[in-house]
Amino acid sequence: RILIIDFGSQVTQLIARRVREQGVYCEVVPFNKADEIFPKFGAKGVILSGGPASVTEMGTPRAPQAVFDADVPVLGICYGEQTMVEQLGGGVEAGHHREFGRAEIEVVSPSKLFDGVWDEGKRYQVWMSHGDRVTALPQGFKAIAVSEGAPFAAIADEARRFYAVQFHPEVVHTPDGARLLRNFVREIVGCEGDWTMAAYREEAIERIRAQVGKGRVICGLSGGVDSAVAAVLIHEAIGEQLTCVFVDHGLMRQGEADEVVSLFRGHYNIPLVHVDASDTFLGALEGVDDPEVKRKTIGKLFIDVFEAEAKKIGGAAFLAQGTLYPDVIESVSFTGGPSVTIKSHHNVGGLPERMNMKLVEPLRELFKDEVRALGRELGLPEAFVGRHPFPGPGLAIRCPGGITREKLDILRQADAIYLDEIRKAGLYDVIWQAFAVLLPVRSVGVMGDGRTYDHVLALRAVTSVDGMTADFYPYDMNFLGRTATRIINEVRGINRVVYDVTSKPPGTIEWE
Ligand code: XMP
Repeated sequence: RILIIDFGSQVTQLIARRVREQGVYCEVVPFNKADEIFPKFGAKGVILSGGPASVTEMGTPRAPQAVFDADVPVLGICYGEQTMVEQLGGGVEAGHHREFGRAEIEVVSPSKLFDGVWDEGKRYQVWMSHGDRVTALPQGFKAIAVSEGAPFAAIADEARRFYAVQFHPEVVHTPDGARLLRNFVREIVGCEGDWTMAAYREEAIERIRAQVGKGRVICGLSGGVDSAVAAVLIHEAIGEQLTCVFVDHGLMRQGEADEVVSLFRGHYNIPLVHVDASDTFLGALEGVDDPEVKRKTIGKLFIDVFEAEAKKIGGAAFLAQGTLYPDVIESVSFTGGPSVTIKSHHNVGGLPERMNMKLVEPLRELFKDEVRALGRELGLPEAFVGRHPFPGPGLAIRCPGGITREKLDILRQADAIYLDEIRKAGLYDVIWQAFAVLLPVRSVGVMGDGRTYDHVLALRAVTSVDGMTADFYPYDMNFLGRTATRIINEVRGINRVVYDVTSKPPGTIEWE
């Protein structure tokens, strides 16, 4: 396994994903915990991430010296290169030659890092993002690639198996980057590449059994992929000791609640309590039109309802959650200041302490695409596993302004038609998330010989990798025209459809 030491780059998680795509297990630790974790971790190789600091300044982060004394291969990326060079006795100077974005490098020497990927004397495209640069190499190193702004764009000490690059191999803008990382973890470090979802499933089941023993576990289902995969995995481990609770807030999409119930009860035969709490939720939301009040009302009610159900079931010592690795990785903050709350996300944080339960989180080490792979491994239907993300507060935040049952019904019908057209056009898997928003605006139209005065519906579709940034999806106009016509013809209450062409930032994906 590989240890990735995080110096606070925005893209450290991508390094972890690229390594795991090679079938090699890895974990990310913040630099300030690395001293403690490195000796225990048993790393066969180490990767030092990029980061925003400058090694030329006092008090900036360093890798544990033990990493360089342990006789394991080390790969430094960007800031990781600079700190490696500085710690091993080379020189780094604060930036006059900034390079940001696309750049070209020229390979000036063969290296194990480039084997089978890059040839000596040729130029290749990479992605750079640095101000400082290396000016003098530590003993034993030589330059293996140069760029205009960085005479030491890639360096190597082949004898000690230390490698470092100024560019970012983990991002897609370095087209050959994944293959360079493969060379590092598979050829240089010598990892087997046998970390698969089938292996993970077996290990996870053993760990759940060891943690839970004969105890009872409650798992909240949201209708989404993560909680479903967690529940099916736990059920495979401990069978009837698991009870699932599905709090139906009445804000799900068309047919969604039934699907969850039939999948769990019918297909998997997992004990499931289906709580129809739509009256409670819609009652509490009556007259609420502020997005943050909506989110907080739903979040709080969810906890209340869930807690009451758990008490009825009784005797459960464990609460299962579909927490993913991106939620677990501690982000390294240099500013230390509080970040602004854009939206308060609805989750069940705080519930375990309040209920005095221990957490079972079998997906804590996994990224989203790995959870999907595990879901397939566990036999969840493809249509379920490949689903677009859906927010906890559901349709409440896709109905700006006050919410009524009538508006939710209109939105559900329109959303179902929109998704149907997307599937028919073969676009569902190309788009990261698509949905309809029922606007609190009415417009005048003419249908047949009559005047209409009905709701406006906005369609949204984005591409994204992680939901942090997103681009609107550039549909063909014929697709939009066809979909709008169908919605207006088939859904009573909508007489106009518009398409949202805002990216994130400056927009967010959801409207509220
Ligand atoms: P925004 O709208 O912030 O959304 O660009 C980013 C991603 O997060 C989803 N989202 C939520 N998910 N609880 C969730 O579980 C929430 O309260 C919530 N709000 C937004 C959104 O659908 C998108 O995928």
